[in-house]
Amino acid sequence: MTVHSYVLSQLEFVDRHSLTYPFEERGLQFGDGVYEVIRVYGGNYYLKNEHVDRLFRSAEAVKIDLPFSKDELHASLSELLSKNNVTGNAKVYLQATRGSATRDHVFPSVPANFYAYVQDMPRPEEKLRHGVSAIVRPDIRWQNCYIKSLNLLPNVLAKQEASEYGAYEAILHRDGKVTECSSSNVYIVKKGTVYTHPETNQILHGCVRARVKQLAYQEKIPFVEAAFSATQLMEADEVFVTSSTSEVMPIVQVDNQTIGNGKPGNITSKLQHAYAVDANIADYSIVGK
Ligand SMILES: Cc1ncc(COP(=O)(O)O)c(C=O)c1O
Repeated sequence: MTVHSYVLSQLEFVDRHSLTYPFEERGLQFGDGVYEVIRVYGGNYYLKNEHVDRLFRSAEAVKIDLPFSKDELHASLSELLSKNNVTGNAKVYLQATRGSATRDHVFPSVPANFYAYVQDMPRPEEKLRHGVSAIVRPDIRWQNCYIKSLNLLPNVLAKQEASEYGAYEAILHRDGKVTECSSSNVYIVKKGTVYTHPETNQILHGCVRARVKQLAYQEKIPFVEAAFSATQLMEADEVFVTSSTSEVMPIVQVDNQTIGNGKPGNITSKLQHAYAVDANIADYSIVGK
C-alpha cells in the first residue's frame, strides 16, 4: 500500500522521506497526541468534516493547541489529494502531538507537531462479502475513550490477540457490558433492531457510527443506543462492526460460536448497501451473501 510522496508537515508540503522528528518528541515519548484516519473513495474524502471536527475536539480535550484553523486544515487536506494525484481508494492519516521538547511530563512551551499523509487502500471486498470473526476480551483502557489519543497500547494488545487467534477484531467489554472493539464500533441485531453502546466517554464516537445511525433511520431500521451484554452478543441474530477502514463489516463468528446462520445478515447487508451509496462508491454490489 503505497504512501504518496507529498506529505503535510504542519501545513507545508514536504517529501515523505524528508519528514523526521527529534527523538525527544511528545508523541514518541508519551503518546502525547491525537490522530485521525479519513477514508477516501475514488479520490474523494468521505466524512471529512466529521473527522476534522473530531480532531479538534480530541486536541481540545487534551489541551493541545493546533497551529491552524479548521478551514486551513480542510484546504490543505484537499490539496494533499490533488498534489498526489489520488484518484482511487485511499486513507489519510493525521497526527498532532504536543511537540518536540526535552523530556518532562509537564507541558513544554513549544508548538504542536502535525503531519498527514495519504496511502492507497483497497476496500476489504472479500471480508465485506463473507464476514469475519472476532474474539471477546476485557476492555482495559482508560476512562476517556472518546478522545482519539495516540495511547493505543491496550488496543494494540487486543488486536494482536485477535490476530493470533486468526480473528479480525477484538470485541471489548467492561464488567460484561460490550463497549466497542480495538479499532471499530460494534453492533448487534436482535429481532430486526440494531443495538450499540451509547456515545459516552467509554467509546470512540465513530464517524461511521454516526452516519450508520442516520442510514438506519433512513432505511427505517430501529436503532437503539443502549449497552448490551457479552451474553446478548453471543445470542444475537447478526453482529457487525464499523470504522473508516472496515466500513460495515459483518461478524459471523465470535470466539468459537457461529452468529446467526454464519453468513452476513439482512440488516447488515442493507446497511452495507446504504453505506456504499452514501459514500458514492462506484461498485456497491459488495454486500453480504
Ligand atoms: C477504538 C475505535 N473505535 C471506533 C472506531 C471507528 O471510528 P470511525 O468510524 O470514526 O473510523 C475506531 C477507528 O479507528 C477506533 O479506533
